[in-house]
Amino acid sequence: MNNVTLHTLSALKQDGKKFAVLTAYDACFAQLVSNAGTEVILVGDSLGMVLQGHDSTLPVTVEEMAYHTRCVASGNQGSMLMSDLPFMSYATPEQAMLNAGILMQAGAHIIKIEGGAWLAETITLLAERGVPVCAHLGLTPQAVNRLGGYRVQGRDESSAQQMLDDAILLEKAGASILLLECVPSLLAGEISRAVSIPVIGIGAGAQTDAQVLVLHDMLGITPGRKPRFVKDFMSESDSIAGALQSYGDQVRAGTFPADEHGFA
Ligand code: KIV
Ligand code: NA
Repeated sequence: MNNVTLHTLSALKQDGKKFAVLTAYDACFAQLVSNAGTEVILVGDSLGMVLQGHDSTLPVTVEEMAYHTRCVASGNQGSMLMSDLPFMSYATPEQAMLNAGILMQAGAHIIKIEGGAWLAETITLLAERGVPVCAHLGLTPQAVNRLGGYRVQGRDESSAQQMLDDAILLEKAGASILLLECVPSLLAGEISRAVSIPVIGIGAGAQTDAQVLVLHDMLGITPGRKPRFVKDFMSESDSIAGALQSYGDQVRAGTFPADEHGFA
């Protein structure tokens, strides 16, 4: 695969073509995910739950994100590498610049931060300094204590309008990508059409420009009850490489997610 850049992703959106995103936290899986043609690899702070066994993403540090970003960068074969800034590492624009610098030097091509309008200034400052930003809206897991649990967001009219307004504002502030997590499918579609930057969805229905899943979830490794938006691609495949390929194929064909994976 040729190196995937922001230009690649916006051209896909303009052509009405969908792209695939998966998490990875180590070199070996990064190589498999990348070789499957997955356009973007996310080094998510979900590693706090998936790798470290915590019950939230809050304990994850910038140093840990930098370590896993280096691991993934060394296995990556041309995917765009996105890394999460973890909880409280971008509480001020100054902290965001310092910590984004650490992740970019570890090998990230773009950083992701969770929140709405309050991030506008941070996003502008980062973009001006050469750091592309993905803004994560909807269910923002770093705010789980404030949200009172992992719940679908934007269900009433005023919070839906707020999310749409935030999306437009953050695009204007200089965000390069948006990510919507656990948002009603119709609202996610509306937001995706209202902005010209690519929108990645998880639990956000089929109308976003791209999809992301946690690697261990889509391989059926994660113990316990699987969330509604997760599909186990390993159960219909006889190899990990095959499961990764079929995820990408189904995302690009628009057959994953199906209605049953979304929220009304
Ligand atoms: O940390 C992560 O894996 C994420 C995705 C679930 C979007 O932020
Ligand atoms: Na995350």
